[in-house]
Amino acid sequence: MCGIIGYIGNKATKNILLEGLKNLEYRGYDSSGVAILGDNIQIVKEVGKIENLKNSIAKQELQGNLGIGHTRWATHGMPTENNSHPHFSNDKKFAIVHNGIIENYLELKEKLQKLGYKFISDTDTEVIVHLYHYYYNGDMIDTLAKVIKDLEGSYAVCVLSEEHKDKFVVAKKDSPLIIGLGEDENFVASDMPAILKYTKNYYLLEDGEMALINKDKVTIYDDNKKIISKEVLYFDFDTDLAEKNGYEHFMLKEIFEQPSCIKKCVSKYIADNDVNFESFSKIEEIIKNTKNIHIVACGSAYHAGMIGKYAIENLARVRVNIDIASEFRYKNPILEKDDVCIIISQSGETADSLSALRLAKENGVKVISIVNVFGSSIARESDFVFYTLAGPEIAVATTKGYSTQVFLLYLFALKLAFIRGAISKDQFNAYISNIKQVENDINESLKLNDKIKDIANKYCHLENAFIVGRGIDYYLSLESSLKLKEISYIHSEAYASGELKHGSIALIDKDSLVIGIITDESLSAKTISNLKEVKARGAKVLVFAKEGIEGLEDVVDDAIFVPSKEEFFMGITGIIPMQLFSYYVAKERGCDIDMPKNLAKSVTVE
Ligand code: G6P
Repeated sequence: MCGIIGYIGNKATKNILLEGLKNLEYRGYDSSGVAILGDNIQIVKEVGKIENLKNSIAKQELQGNLGIGHTRWATHGMPTENNSHPHFSNDKKFAIVHNGIIENYLELKEKLQKLGYKFISDTDTEVIVHLYHYYYNGDMIDTLAKVIKDLEGSYAVCVLSEEHKDKFVVAKKDSPLIIGLGEDENFVASDMPAILKYTKNYYLLEDGEMALINKDKVTIYDDNKKIISKEVLYFDFDTDLAEKNGYEHFMLKEIFEQPSCIKKCVSKYIADNDVNFESFSKIEEIIKNTKNIHIVACGSAYHAGMIGKYAIENLARVRVNIDIASEFRYKNPILEKDDVCIIISQSGETADSLSALRLAKENGVKVISIVNVFGSSIARESDFVFYTLAGPEIAVATTKGYSTQVFLLYLFALKLAFIRGAISKDQFNAYISNIKQVENDINESLKLNDKIKDIANKYCHLENAFIVGRGIDYYLSLESSLKLKEISYIHSEAYASGELKHGSIALIDKDSLVIGIITDESLSAKTISNLKEVKARGAKVLVFAKEGIEGLEDVVDDAIFVPSKEEFFMGITGIIPMQLFSYYVAKERGCDIDMPKNLAKSVTVE
């Protein structure tokens, strides 16, 4: 996690760093800081959000044509000023920012302390700056190469040296770093939205590479210090996507962007009534005969994967194992020849998902990834990648990232079912024309906004919620529960509704809210009867049901009916009301919706 930024050029360095950090704040917001090189290096740091740093910097003269900045998600040491980046060398001649974890820092720290270096923070990062000082020989790249040889773990690191007022250096391993190319100015950042205002041209630094950044030149080195050439990439996204555009929060904006994201996926991936995945012909032979598919992901991407499992098993009748990435990598998974692994990740940088991918590949299993961020590590390391085309997602709680993942999983399931002969051409055609309707269904669901807002205001004071459903509605409940707890801080748990009575019903009383998700008509009577059980124990019952579901009158306190033309695809549409409900509950409770406490969007640590 953590976001880093660097700038060299003739513009006001401090403003560029602050703007960049603001756009990287989703990566962590425990503290932030900048180092600007004028006559010497000046560092300003503040605990808390970038706003605090901005206020603090406003009072200071910070002149210089190059600087680096950092927004932190604390791992080693509390969010204090001393633990904030940038970190200074003892003589204040060098400053660094770092994203990642240095696993051998204790050993390096001990070595450096014996050499007389004084540590002022509890961070793993501080060893890097003292090592840099220790190895410094006047050549910034040569020194950096020596430093990274000693480091174990992950890093995207930028170094400023007081002696060199026309350059800074960076290196990367297992944490993202891009180099933005401007005219008479250059940038580095953890990702493109941080610098989109200034340039869309960039280099993607690979693991083991280093770069020397001057204002008019970028020189890239491999791990043997050999200069290498790289392709300039173009970040093909509308800058508007990284702005709120009149919405109060990014989350609300991103919820409302979902129809257009689905539309993009439809036009990219459905052509002539067929699923048109680029490179699908290459994987066709592999997946045609595979016996097992492994889906591996974290957080909401894992919940999307559960719907993917449901769709693949139901349509294609192929066995799907699904695992949380942090479990998969340590459980000695059974991976067989001809198995296929699907890794799902919005950011494409989640550390556990990336390690799971590598484990699958080591075992000879082909990896297909479903990723949002172009050129991210997971996308690059996969054998095949399908992009979700959701555009930059800024709010920490994912919405459009999730629904586009589910959409692509459905398409994958349909194509797989067809090529394996599990569904006929007519059935396939019917599904394809129905899935194209999902955009409309989402638009219709979004029209429930005001109604959902009123209901959210009615229930927002409750402190405990159970969210229950069966089948696909259970998977929707898992994602709904995560949405609610992560942004509103209401304790919420998802249950398969038939399971509630096996223990947890003991917690139900008049202060409990039980939310039923009922989109699968064939299971509705069962879920309704489970809701009656909680109603009888005094719980408030709120239901989000597909239009046409009957028999709710005696059991619900409130119900919202979600329009849908096609029940099977409710795995995509069914989440919209709960995204809105969670948003309005959090808003009413005064929570920091786009940046919930303790979270970060891109989880690049184990
Ligand atoms: C974090 C985010 C979640 C996300 C999860 C997996 O916890 O807050 O929204 O679902 O990471 O991230 P990924 O980028 O791999 O989808």
